[in-house]
Amino acid sequence: TPAPPLDLNNIQGDILSGLPKKTQYYVFFDILDVKKFKADLSKFIPLIKTVAQVLKDRDAIADHKKKKLPGLVPLDGVNIAFSHTGFVKLGVDDSTLAQGGATDPFSLGQKKDAITNLGDPNKLDGNPDWDEQFLRDLHGIILISGESHGSIDKKKQEIDAIFRVNTPTASIEEVITIRGDVRPGQEDGHEHFGFLDGISNPVVDGFDTVINPGPKVVQPGVILTGHPGDVTPAPRADWATDGSFLAFRYLFQHVPEFNKFLKKNPVTKDGNGNALTPEQGSELLGARMVGRWKSGAPIDLAPFKDDPALGVDPTRNNNFFFTNEINSQLRCPFAAHVRKTNPRNDLEVPPAPIPPIAIEGRRIMRRGIQFGPEVTQDEQKLSKTLHGRGLIFACYQSSLTNGFQFLQHSWANAPKFPPFETQPEDPGLDPLIGQGTRAMSGLDPLAEQTVLPMPTFITARGGEYFFSPSIKGLKSTIAA
Ligand code: HEM
Repeated sequence: TPAPPLDLNNIQGDILSGLPKKTQYYVFFDILDVKKFKADLSKFIPLIKTVAQVLKDRDAIADHKKKKLPGLVPLDGVNIAFSHTGFVKLGVDDSTLAQGGATDPFSLGQKKDAITNLGDPNKLDGNPDWDEQFLRDLHGIILISGESHGSIDKKKQEIDAIFRVNTPTASIEEVITIRGDVRPGQEDGHEHFGFLDGISNPVVDGFDTVINPGPKVVQPGVILTGHPGDVTPAPRADWATDGSFLAFRYLFQHVPEFNKFLKKNPVTKDGNGNALTPEQGSELLGARMVGRWKSGAPIDLAPFKDDPALGVDPTRNNNFFFTNEINSQLRCPFAAHVRKTNPRNDLEVPPAPIPPIAIEGRRIMRRGIQFGPEVTQDEQKLSKTLHGRGLIFACYQSSLTNGFQFLQHSWANAPKFPPFETQPEDPGLDPLIGQGTRAMSGLDPLAEQTVLPMPTFITARGGEYFFSPSIKGLKSTIAA
C-alpha cells in the first residue's frame, strides 16, 4: 500500500525537494536572548520555503528554460534548524528527538561524536582539530540559497534585520557564515575533484512522482520523523514530526594532492588486459576510487571506459546493483565511495549477513554545495593546496545513528566492510572519506588483492548535528 500523502506545506523545503541553488549561505548562530529570539522567530517563519513552495519554484525554473528566457529566475530559499544545545537554550524539551539517550549523536553533539565515532583527528585538549568557531556550542543554522550573490545578500540583510544582528538589541549572534558556490561552466554539478555529484539520492514513497530505475524506494520515515520507516523507539512529540536531522560537515578537499596521487598511481591495464596510457590509467584509478567516472557514469555499468551519455541519463545512471559481484572487485572495488556508502545488492545477497536494519533504512538525502575557488595554476604546478576549498556536506535522515553516523563509522571507516567471507583481501577504507589507516584493495582490476595506501584527501574542519523542524513545530513550540 502506498504511504499516505505528506503535508508538503509543513515540511521545510531542503529536506525532500532540495532548495534550488547556485549559491548558498550557511549562517551559524547562537541565541543571545530567548524571549526576543522567540518573538523574532515568529517574524522569520513566513520567510521559510516549504517543500510545496520549492516545487512551485522548480516549475518556474522549468518554464523559464522551456521558453529559453535569458538569465536565471531570481529565487531565494530560506530554512532553519537547531542543535541540541539550541533547544536546551530555548527551554524546548527535545527528548523525543534523541534515540539513544546520552550517547545519542544529536544530544552528544558532533564535536564529541567526531572523536568517539567519526574518526576525526583530535588535538591534545581532546577536541577535534577543527576551526575554533565550530568548537563553540552552535545553537542553530539558517540556510539561505539563491541563484545569485545579489539574491542571497539581500535575503541575508532582511534576516539580519529581523534578529537585529550586530545591534545592542540583537536576539542572535552570527558566529560564522560559510558561502557555498556551484562550480563554474562545465563543472556545474561536479564536486571539486571533478566528479558529477548529486546523482543518487533516495526516492521517497508518497513524495517522488518520477521514479527512475535504481535502488528501492524508501519509506518517508527514513528521511522524515514521525512517518512509517522512522524507527524511533519512542513516539515523537507532535512538534517533532515532519522534521529531519541535518548532519553538517565542513569538508576541505585537497584537490592538487588528489590529482598528484592519481598521476603517480595509474592503472596499467584495464580488466580485459588492454594496456592503458598513463592518462587513461589515472582516469580509471579515480573512477575506481569513486565508483563513477567524472561524467557520472557508474563503473559497475561502464567498468573500463567512460560513457558520458550514460553519466547524465537519469533513466540509466543509477540502475546498477553490484549484482553477482560479492566476490569480485573486477568491475568496482568494494571500497569505492559509492559502494561503501550504498552497497546495494551487496547486503541483500548471502553470504553477506543481512544487517539488522535493511539497507533502505540507511539511505541519506544529500544536499551539499561546493565552497572555495577553482584550483590555481600555482597550486597545479606545486601539487599543493594553497586555498581552502571543498564540500559543505549536508544530509537529512530521521536517525543520525542509522544514517550519517553509521555510514561514516561502520562503513567508510571500517576496513572489513562489506563483509565478504570468501574474499581473502579486506576492502579497506573509503578512499574519499575514510578515516583511520587509509588503504584499499581492488584498484587494479587484474590484481584485486593488491592494497594501495593513500594519504588523506578530505579533512573535516567543523560540523554539527541539527534538527530541521516542521512549520507547525516552529510555530507551536519553538517560537511560542
Ligand atoms: C555519492 C563525492 C562526502 C555519502 C557521491 C558521489 C560523489 C561523491 C562524486 C557520486 C555521485 C552520486 O552518486 O550522487 C563526495 C565528496 C565528499 C563526499 C567529494 C567529501 C568532500 C560524503 C560523506 C558521506 C557521503 C561524508 C556520508 C558519510 C555519499 C552517498 C552517496 C555519495 C550515500 C550515494 C551513493 C549511492 O547511492 O550510490 N559522493 N562525497 N559522501 N556519497 Fe559522497
